[in-house]
Formats: sequence, structure tokens, C-alpha cells
Amino acid sequence: MYRTKIAGIGMYVPEKEVSNEWLTQYMDTTNEWIVERTGIETRRYADKHKETTSTLGAKAALKAIDDAGISKEDIDFIIFATLSPDYYFPGCGVLLQRELGITHGEAGALDIRNQCSGFLYGLSVADQFIKSGMYKNILLVGAEMHSMGLDFSTEGRNVSVIFGDGAGAVILQPTENENEGILTTKLHSDGTHAEELAMINPGSHGGYHLHEVDFGFPDEDLPGEIFVTQHMLDAGMMYPNMNGQLVFKNAVVKFPEVIMEALIEVGASPSDIDMLIPHQANLRISQFVQRKLGLRDDQVFNNIQKYGNTTAASVPIALCEALKEGKIKSGDLVCLAVFGSGFTWGSALIRW
Ligand code: UT7
Repeated sequence: MYRTKIAGIGMYVPEKEVSNEWLTQYMDTTNEWIVERTGIETRRYADKHKETTSTLGAKAALKAIDDAGISKEDIDFIIFATLSPDYYFPGCGVLLQRELGITHGEAGALDIRNQCSGFLYGLSVADQFIKSGMYKNILLVGAEMHSMGLDFSTEGRNVSVIFGDGAGAVILQPTENENEGILTTKLHSDGTHAEELAMINPGSHGGYHLHEVDFGFPDEDLPGEIFVTQHMLDAGMMYPNMNGQLVFKNAVVKFPEVIMEALIEVGASPSDIDMLIPHQANLRISQFVQRKLGLRDDQVFNNIQKYGNTTAASVPIALCEALKEGKIKSGDLVCLAVFGSGFTWGSALIRW
């Protein structure tokens, strides 16, 4: 059986840099609050008239294709992870395919809806396809354009200051070299707190999970008026919401747990990790995880300071920058770990 290796990687972040100070013109917040609670100093916002989640993804994908030394036509499967798709449907996978001009119909496209864990879920799916011998060049993309759907009023400040736009992509290939590639992936989920970090409108829920909330659904049983109501729009119910403290408390437990699960499976311990790339949710969460596992500063990579939380894009962007900065060498044990909405969480160990 083959192993799966990351044969190429690329990232793209939009040009427009947005400081914490810039946000203060729209909401009651301060640079000090944001830096102290999250570590974030700037984030990037895409050009809403010229860019979309799939075009950001395509730019990262082209770099990954180039890095792998393959041509676009070699891609035999596409996996696209995002929570901020161009359209409700179809997914970004086919839009990216069109953007890349590889609409020959040979490669399938799969969309992943696992928010901050999306890239890792995609990596695990790709790993199974490669190991089985089914595909030889899988393009996995994580991309987000959060800036189009955030509440920039003071009411939405706990969410909107955190998120940024960007994209990361990898090319996954089989390898027969036993000393490299993905050693294991671990995926978990628990829907108990599904609405505690969510964007629930528009959706088909019809109020089912949240009876006490007034969504403004009509009394008459008319088909078609339940997906989006005027009341939802007027009341600003189209934005993501987050119970930050609950997410934080769960994240700092699940990150170390799922990292240890992977390490134990391969007979390794935290001291064997050469580089941990945690999902860039909050610098405080990464620091907590680092302390809990007893890792040195040089064993953990963070770049949330520059890009904010880019959800499905955060791990490939961080991995790409860590590589560019020469912080990962051949033979290193690299650990990826994620936690996010759902809740969903996971880890991967890769021998580089
Ligand atoms: O990718 C996975 C998804 N997300 C996460 O991992 C996020 C996990 N959670 C967090 O990162 C933190 O909970 C936050 C950064 C979101 C919030 O930090 P916190 O220390 O948990 O703050 P809090 O929600 O308990 O709020 C503390 C205070 C509140 O004011 P009062 O009630 O004490 O007067 C908030 O209204 O801070 C206020 N606040 C803000 N103040 C200034 C919330 N957001 C802001 C803001 N600027 N942007």
C-alpha cells in the first residue's frame, strides 16, 4: 500500500491588510483588547467586487500545482473545504475547477463543510483515496472569504474581529518511500453544541432546533417562505454567532487530546514533534496547547497575528509559511491539529 505525501503547497492572501485600529471605526473595540485576547494584529480582506472564495482558492491552487511540478491536467480529484462558499450550491469545488480551466470532466470535485476542521477532514479523505491507489494527484484547498458575511456592528464584535480571508492548497501524491508521508489522521465530532458556533440562516431548520427564537416564519403553511424571512434580515440574523468562552474551553481540551491520540498511535511523544501547526483560532489557545504538551517555542508555528483566523485556510497557510521560513526540514515529524464549529476536531502526523 502507498503512503500519501504533500508534493506541493501554495497560499494566497488578498492584498488589503486590515488593522485592528481600522475596525474601531465600525464597532466599539480596541487594538489592545484584540491583541490581548486573540493575538491578532492584522487580517486580510478580499476585494468583494473582484474576488470570491473560489478565486482565492484557485490562486493558492496554482501555486501548489507549480510547487509540485505537475500540470493542471494531472489533477484527478479536487477537495474544497470552506464555510464561506461563493454559492449556497453548487460548491466551490466545481467553481475552482472552472477557474483553473480543467473542465474536461475527468476529475471529481468534493466539497467539505467542516469549518475550522475542513482542511484536516479533506486531508484524511484524500489520504484514503491515495492509499487505496484510486488517485495520483489530489488538489486539496482550504479557502475563506469571511469579510463578506460579518457583522461589523458592536453586537458582532466578538466574531468579526477574529476572522480573515485567505486560501491554502496542497497537492497530495502517493509515495512508496516508507520514511515519508502521512502517518495517521484522527477525526472527531460532537454535535451537542452545534449552534454555539454557527451561522444558521439561511437554512432549512424552520426553527426546529431553536423553538424559542423568533425567526419571523409566516403562520400560514406556505412552501418557500421559510428559508429566508424579512424578519431575519431586519434583525441581523444572517451572521455567524459564537459562544467564545464555550468554544475556548472545549478547544483547549480537545487539541491536546487529539494530538496525543495520534502520537500514541505511532509510538511517539510530544517531544518527538518537530513542528506543530495548530489551526489558528486564537493565539491564546495555541499557547495553552503548547504549555499543556510541554513544547518549546520552536516546536509550534503561529501566524494568526498577521492573518486572523482563516478557518479552513489557516492550517495550509501556516504550513506553507513554516516551510517558506525553513522551519520544516526533510525527515521532520509535523503535526497538524484543528478544532472548530460542530464541534469537530482532528489531527494528522506527517513525516516530512
Ligand atoms: O476557530 C474556532 C473558532 N473560534 C475560536 O476558537 C474562538 C474561541 N474563543 C475565543 O477566542 C474568545 O472567547 C474570544 C476572543 C472570542 C473572546 O474572548 P473572551 O476573553 O472569551 O471574552 P468574552 O466573550 O468573555 O467577553 C469579555 C468582554 C465582554 O464584555 P463584558 O460583558 O465583560 O462587559 C464582551 O462584550 O469583552 C467584550 N468583547 C469585546 N470588547 C472589545 C467581546 N468582543 C470584544 C471586542 N472588543 N472585539
